[in-house]
Amino acid sequence: MKLLEALNVGPVTLPNRLAVPAMVTRLSGEDGRVNDDVVDRYVRYAEGNVGLIVVEASSVHGGKSGPLLRVSDDEFIPGLRQLTSACHAASDSKVFLQIIHFLKIARSGWREKVSEVDAERLEELPELFTSAALRAQEAGFDGVELHMAHAYTLSSLLSRHNRRSDKYGRTLENRLRLPSKVLRTVRARVDPSFGVAVRFDADESIRRGYSVLEAGQMAVRFAELGAGYVSLSAGGKFEDAVHREGKPLYPYTGYSGDRCMPGDTYVDGANSWMAEAVKSTLRSHGCDTPVLATGKIGSAQLAEDLLQRGVCDIVGMARALLADPYLLKKFREGREDETVRCIYCNVCKSLDENFNTVVCYLWPKDAIQAPRPDEQSQVPIRWPENLEPLTASAEAGQIRLKWTRPEGPAVGFDVLRSEDLGPYERLTSCTRASQLDDSVLRGRSYRYRVVPYDESGRRGVPSNIVEIELGPDDADEAMALEDVDVSL
Ligand SMILES: Cc1cc2nc3c(=O)[nH]c(=O)nc-3n(C[C@H](O)[C@H](O)[C@H](O)COP(=O)(O)O)c2cc1C
Ligand code: SF4
Repeated sequence: MKLLEALNVGPVTLPNRLAVPAMVTRLSGEDGRVNDDVVDRYVRYAEGNVGLIVVEASSVHGGKSGPLLRVSDDEFIPGLRQLTSACHAASDSKVFLQIIHFLKIARSGWREKVSEVDAERLEELPELFTSAALRAQEAGFDGVELHMAHAYTLSSLLSRHNRRSDKYGRTLENRLRLPSKVLRTVRARVDPSFGVAVRFDADESIRRGYSVLEAGQMAVRFAELGAGYVSLSAGGKFEDAVHREGKPLYPYTGYSGDRCMPGDTYVDGANSWMAEAVKSTLRSHGCDTPVLATGKIGSAQLAEDLLQRGVCDIVGMARALLADPYLLKKFREGREDETVRCIYCNVCKSLDENFNTVVCYLWPKDAIQAPRPDEQSQVPIRWPENLEPLTASAEAGQIRLKWTRPEGPAVGFDVLRSEDLGPYERLTSCTRASQLDDSVLRGRSYRYRVVPYDESGRRGVPSNIVEIELGPDDADEAMALEDVDVSL
């Protein structure tokens, strides 16, 4: 299986091709220090054999930032070392630190724009990033990931919205100047065996933002400067963020925020086309730099499919691994049906927005970490006896499924569908006891069943099977009447 194959990212060898992209945990205090809870969060990814663990965005500079890890001073090195030692002791996962610089924001909605910052201040960036990378190296990380995605300083420089009139704005070459210098300087000053990678947007997902054409060119530049991999994100911009009274702007509230963290209404692998396009530009320029794709890739099967098709070289799963850090381990051990599947409800995102500890909605009540596989509940989930729990009805071009909640600790349900007697596939996972399927066609027959799971992912017995076809709908009747009118 490609997913389980090792891969070199510059000087670092990943044991497999699954990555957990950076995800702010809000587990540190405002002091930005690593504590036991932060260590606990990342150790689980290592225990789950995730090939590449990218530790959350950590600030390269001082200044107010709420609960966010920092790497802006040597005093943070011991805590960060505790984190890397614990992860390395748990498995051969490689651990990178994402390093970030951001501009000021205020509760009034005001934000400092890159076009307003003095050039002298921007010119401090290569040194700030390099000092942070050297600290990360000293703390035992295998590499750093330079955060050039979303709404932050390096990303704002890359953006087509960067209208600076000096050598750092407007043209692609100018917009790339400082981010390139950051990468070049960091790469030159850290040890050759230390990894340096870049994360940036493949598509800004805002009006007049850049898309994959320019992102491909950026990727080529970063590859030529020695990036060990390029991790592609999308959107997450201030330009279309919705200001909420009394709160600083959160760059994931508009459409670009949806694109960055696609919710339950988006298709699986929602942004994989972007990775495919950027990878193709890289390869056509003779660059073999690995490409990491993210965006609603929630299962090992989908990950393997993307890798087999050559869409990307590393698969990033953020929320799916937050929900269940043991997803790969369970898959490897043939226990995939014990996975706690992310339902892309984005509760974790709103916790982040409000500076609350980021947890998953599917974890046990009040837990701040995912349960380990051996912490499984022993209470079985049981459907009520002498009752067919699942029913289906067709209405207005869609099929409504309802089921009785089982006894026992069910936190979620996989809804499985088979079309025209074909194999069952997972349509979605949800926490409520009903589901509307609006992606059905007349003339086809559909069978459904529902599988409950508990907070540690253990599946209960599947429900009864219901079989149903759509009848003619109102629109058909209206069309039929129109036909009659025409013939008269
Ligand atoms: C709670 C939360 C915090 C995040 N923090 C970061 C971050 O620190 N740095 C970053 O580059 N992306 C961050 N992201 C974006 C994720 O890395 C990822 O790109 C996004 O969630 C889409 O991937 P997914 O569909 O696998 O979740 C965060 C996402 C979430 C949900
Ligand atoms: S809170 Fe929702 S979106 Fe976030 S990881 Fe859990 S199930 Fe997924």
